[in-house]
Order: sequence, then C-alpha cells, then structure tokens
Amino acid sequence: NPITIAIDGPSGSGKSSVSKEVARRLGLAYLDTGAMYRALTWWCLDRGIDLTDAEAVSWAAQGFPLQISTDPDRPTVQVDGRDISADIRTTDISEQVFHVATNLGVRASLRDQQRQVIAHARRDGAGIVVEGRDITTVIAPDAEHRVLLTASEQARLARRARELFETDDAGAIEATRAQVVGRDAADSTVSAFFEPAPGVVGIDTSELTFAQSVAAVLDTVAA
Ligand code: CDP
Repeated sequence: NPITIAIDGPSGSGKSSVSKEVARRLGLAYLDTGAMYRALTWWCLDRGIDLTDAEAVSWAAQGFPLQISTDPDRPTVQVDGRDISADIRTTDISEQVFHVATNLGVRASLRDQQRQVIAHARRDGAGIVVEGRDITTVIAPDAEHRVLLTASEQARLARRARELFETDDAGAIEATRAQVVGRDAADSTVSAFFEPAPGVVGIDTSELTFAQSVAAVLDTVAA
C-alpha cells in the first residue's frame, strides 16, 4: 500500500536533507513544498509583479507554469521550461518569500497542486515524502506518518550559517539570525509548526547528526 510521510519543521531543523534521504532509502517520491513558494516568488519578481500586491500575487499563483521533479536524487524546479533550481536558493528569494507564503490565495492554489502531486505519487508508485510547514496539519493530515522536526534556535542558526557562509563563527551566526528569526515570525502567522499537532511525532534534532536524524524518522515509519 502506498504511504505518505509528512515532515514539517522550521529552517535549520534538517528537514530538507533528512526528507530527501528518507525518500531515497524507502524508494519514495519527494516533494519540497518550500521550493514551490520560492519558485512562485521568483516568477513574480521575473514578471515584475509587486509582491505586496496580494491580489496580483494570488492571481499569478493560478496560472503559474511550474514543473517540479519528485525524484529525490534530482529534485529540480522548472518554470516555463527554464530550470530555476539554483535561482530559488538565493538570499534575495529567502528574504522575499514571506510575501508569497503569507498570501492565503497562494496557499489555496499551492495546496491543490501539492495534493495532486501526492495523489499521483500514491497512484503510480510506493508513495511520497512531503516536507514543508503545514504538511502534517493542512496538506496531508491523514498521512500514514507525520513528523515534526524541531531544533533549538542555536542549533538551527549554526546549521544555516554553515550552509550560507561555510562557518558558524559569531559573525556568521549574527548574519544568519535576522534572516532566520524574521522568517520564523512571518511563517508562524500562517501555520504553527514549532509544536507537533496531535498525533504528530516530534523529533528534536538539536543534538543529532544527519545520520541519526534520518534513523529517527525511519524508526517512526517502521514502528
Ligand atoms: O530553507 P527553509 O527551510 O528555510 O525554507 P523552505 O522550506 O525552502 O521554505 C521557504 C519558505 O516557504 C518558508 O520560509 C515559508 O515561508 C514558506 N513555506 C510555507 O509557508 N509552507 C510550506 N509548506 C513550505 C514553505
């Protein structure tokens, strides 16, 4: 029987790398929903759409020619046939994505698209690992397995600083803080993802290595 594994968590919780590896190990498809919000942000900026114009952004979400690969080994994002997988990871997009992610019209459109991807993976394969902020609560509350990855703010800042600056010295932590804490605040207006919802397994990765985090998720799936 196909399975869905829903994984939520804030930035720096290890969510993306862990989710991808769990998908690989179990032979499942993989969907990074954050990449969809990032891709829409990129698309709006590319078309000169003012991100503070909620109606224009919500409208853009509906006709948005997104193609997202669900291969955990090659999770590419294309818009209109153009590969924007690298473009959506810039600091510029990270800083502006909240305009798009807090737009309720956008969330409704992307919710429908995400559910279609899930249904397709369940119909055609073994199932899917879906990661984001509202997967365990809104997108797939009936998933067979639901996990919230958390980590202390200190651990999350150190991980993100290493990703961005390849060091977690004091300067890098400070440079990362504004970005991460600011985004957490914006995100928590649309979904509460710091506490596991009822029935969701919480895993604190602060003291876990990558391999241990993957093992902890695989354990909950096997249990
Ligand atoms: O890389 P990081 O985990 O910080 O972010 P991401 O997963 O790439 O998501 C980018 C942004 O999209 C987040 O800051 C959220 O604002 C938003 N997002 C969301 O609102 N709902 C989701 N299911 C996934 C992402």
